[in-house]
Amino acid sequence: MSENKEESLLQYEYIDKVKQIVQKMTEEKGRKPVACVTTFGCQMNAKDSEKLCGILEDCGFIISEDEKHADFVIFNTCTVRDNANQKVYGHLGIMHHMKKSNKDLKIALCGCMMQENTVVDNLKKNYRYVDLIFGTHNIFKFAQLLYRMYTEDQMVVDVWESTDEIVEDLPSARKYSFKSGINIMFGCNNFCSYCIVPYVRGRERSRKPEEIVAEIENLVKDGVVEVMLLGQNVNSYGKNLDNPMTFAQLLREIEKIEGLERIRFMTSHPKDLSDELIEVMADSRKICRHLHLPLQSGSDRILKAMNRRYTKEDYLKLVDKIRNRIPDIALTTDIIVGFPGETKEDIDETIDVIKKSAYDNAFTFIYSKRTGTPAAAMDNQCDESFVKEQFERVLNAVQETARKKVGSLEGSVAEVLVEEINEHEEGYVTGRMSNNTMVHFKGDSSLIGKLVNVKLLEAKNFYYFGEEV
Ligand code: SAH
Ligand code: SF4
Ligand code: F3S
Repeated sequence: MSENKEESLLQYEYIDKVKQIVQKMTEEKGRKPVACVTTFGCQMNAKDSEKLCGILEDCGFIISEDEKHADFVIFNTCTVRDNANQKVYGHLGIMHHMKKSNKDLKIALCGCMMQENTVVDNLKKNYRYVDLIFGTHNIFKFAQLLYRMYTEDQMVVDVWESTDEIVEDLPSARKYSFKSGINIMFGCNNFCSYCIVPYVRGRERSRKPEEIVAEIENLVKDGVVEVMLLGQNVNSYGKNLDNPMTFAQLLREIEKIEGLERIRFMTSHPKDLSDELIEVMADSRKICRHLHLPLQSGSDRILKAMNRRYTKEDYLKLVDKIRNRIPDIALTTDIIVGFPGETKEDIDETIDVIKKSAYDNAFTFIYSKRTGTPAAAMDNQCDESFVKEQFERVLNAVQETARKKVGSLEGSVAEVLVEEINEHEEGYVTGRMSNNTMVHFKGDSSLIGKLVNVKLLEAKNFYYFGEEV
């Protein structure tokens, strides 16, 4: 499967067509139209938003974060938990109101939530003021869909069940000049029993290594020093390529790119994390000292019901192996609390793993029932107040290990990639260590995008204050 060049040429033709429409709008309004792209989901969703912004910019729109003064708003949705869905409906309500005073305002929805039939049916019936709806599989058709939206006098809906296509060489805007996410694979084949992602993102598809490397080389020429390789389960990268290769082999290729300083990736599924990967990480100068290794639960019973395909013991052994080989690594994780049938004893097991793994940080989520997943059909859903209590216990355990871990580097010197001006502390900038911990120190905008050695003077909560040395 090769990336589809014909399709991208077609899309460039549509960009030209939309440009003419934007030109006309500019003449009528006496200013360029403003577009606002709002991201609700994960890093892959954010990467998709950069593609949307790139096309909108090429078409002549001004990009703004202020949806209240925009001529075109697009919500790039997420449906991994119900609160992500609720947020979208909240924003839609506000937009409906805005449209009453600005009938030229166009509203579009895309992303994972649109891959659910019930959502689209609801929108078609009760949200007629939405102008354009499309899903995750045909985002590369955005220019064409924009053209249809501006030329057809009706709600345009185009959601695909699935796709084999990979169309990547289209415009993409970058939020940061010095770092960028790169899709290395799409979709997921794991079907964890609670998770909607495989249903809305389709089956696993890997991009060819030469296409990934070429994209990174171009980014590096353009000033990028840090890349984040993106996939739902990067450890199974390359299995479905014509010439199969492992994720560790891909990393070796990327390591060779001159001028690239840092390599990050997410997410790693523990069941597929190979010894080869640990070796490549240990030997690497560029791969960051950070691994996000979602645990979800520490209880064997729950892990089995979740279809995670590892046990508590497997997970702890893996953590040991990683820590022995890469002692300065920071580990972070995701945990779900309140999976159907979960008891206090199951949570005890999770807390035990938290203590033993000594995470630098953990994202803790309350289980959210996703219609269509096997877990949603389980008849032993947990009681809300029980879940809240257990959630607090898990959170406290996480905070305790995180505080200890993050504080342990006080007094040492670390290399920091400066990301932005600190908004809270005047005269300070904020950057990130290789292990992903944030550091604030005195500096100005000339440091942004640079790697700087910083002495870590004081640990505060989950970050440091330091000074340049
Ligand atoms: N592919 C990644 C995770 C993507 S979703 C992985 O396997 O690690 C990010 C996180 O959302 C998951 O790790 C999980 O902790 C959480 N999550 C997924 N589905 C959920 C649900 N139904 N309820 C609560 N949290 C969920
Ligand atoms: Fe969801 Fe599991 Fe796939 Fe991650 S690996 S996206 S949690 S199904
Ligand atoms: Fe990401 Fe949410 Fe979709 S987590 S893959 S945007 S459902």
